[in-house]
Amino acid sequence: MRMYDLIMKKRNGGVLSKEEIDFMIGGYTKGEIPDYQMSAMMMAVYFVGMNEEETLHLTMAMAESGELLDLSGIHGIKVDKHSTGGVGDKTSLALGPMAAACGVKIAKMSGRGLGHTGGTIDKLESFEGFSTDISTDTFIQNVNDTGIAIMGQTKELAPADKLLYALRDVTATVDNMSLIASSIMSKKLAAGADAIVLDVKTGSGAFMKKEADAFSLAKEMVRIGQNAGRNTLAVVSDMDQPLGRAVGNALEVKEAIETLKGQGPEDFTELCLTLGSLMLCSAGCARTKEEGREMLKKVIADGSALDKLAEFVKAQGGNEEMVYDPSLLPAARFVEPLCAPRAGYIEKLVCDEVGICSLILGGGRETKESAIDLSVGIILEKKVGDHVKKGDVLATLHANDREKLKEAGKRLLLAYQIGDREIKEGPVIVGIVK
Ligand code: URA
Repeated sequence: MRMYDLIMKKRNGGVLSKEEIDFMIGGYTKGEIPDYQMSAMMMAVYFVGMNEEETLHLTMAMAESGELLDLSGIHGIKVDKHSTGGVGDKTSLALGPMAAACGVKIAKMSGRGLGHTGGTIDKLESFEGFSTDISTDTFIQNVNDTGIAIMGQTKELAPADKLLYALRDVTATVDNMSLIASSIMSKKLAAGADAIVLDVKTGSGAFMKKEADAFSLAKEMVRIGQNAGRNTLAVVSDMDQPLGRAVGNALEVKEAIETLKGQGPEDFTELCLTLGSLMLCSAGCARTKEEGREMLKKVIADGSALDKLAEFVKAQGGNEEMVYDPSLLPAARFVEPLCAPRAGYIEKLVCDEVGICSLILGGGRETKESAIDLSVGIILEKKVGDHVKKGDVLATLHANDREKLKEAGKRLLLAYQIGDREIKEGPVIVGIVK
């Protein structure tokens, strides 16, 4: 078999067989197929597309390119959750402990963030001493003991995807449905959970700006998961404005803690209850979504969800006192309000721009090597649909550098579009794909 012939076949509209896809992914992982040939293939796939079967074969080949995590040592049904990401997305921090407090076994692999704020791992490192650099044995032990563990993605997990994603990133071939679906699902399948709940974002701050595209991606990933024998479902949720009110690592941790106490923002709480109820059903802990919701509300009300977060933080070396006293979490030196320049309704809050402001403050990474400032970020006091008077506080900026504060403040003001039209904020849950 020759890579040249496979590129030609795809370029001319052909369908690649399982053997051909295995050859291509195996060869690329071993370094036998050069980047320039794989780049040409990715561009051919970008224009011609892949059918359902090819996408499944590609996913499996990438999942099997490295270690397949064996989680059989965990008693019960293991559930993993994945979000396609967005601004202020701290869902795992609250949802994980909530679901675990209801008896779900949460075995999750997470990554660090590149972009507006850190990823789940960066956010969790706001807890002094917390580490996701744990062995697979400790990971399994912790899930058995406390019901939840989060570990950093190992180098051995789906290495083909790692190589391919880096290549797509620099060859303008990221935004193809089959390539995104296979990339995400290869990592989820290799990570070994029995059930997978996906949160696919849609809107201006999401990968998939259009609702129809978000549903197509959700359907594609659910189909891959089901075909691979994993109970998979997806929620399509809104990312047209940031989720909740906090954007920035430690600030998001604080908001997750408030949510676990029943005092979180409405949209974020609703998303956690919806995803959580589906996780409870997938794990066999609840018979219906309604029953799942009630169970989740109960563990919030009786404090066991918050206690579960503390238990989880402690098990991974973190200071659990910070869970009960969030004032101990990293805090910025300067906290300044941003005031409304006129009266009116918030008609739009440009999601990506809010993220960029957090990045300017130092809350995110521009390159893999950048250091992240866990303490900085933004609290959005007003969101879409809110009415403001001139001079009302729109947001507060948390910063450690006066210059950055000024720059982010100017930009955040432009992200708020205030008009005279009374408008209603859309629902956070757009749909469910099973
Ligand atoms: N996230 C991934 O892991 N892969 C993609 O292709 C896009 C987003």
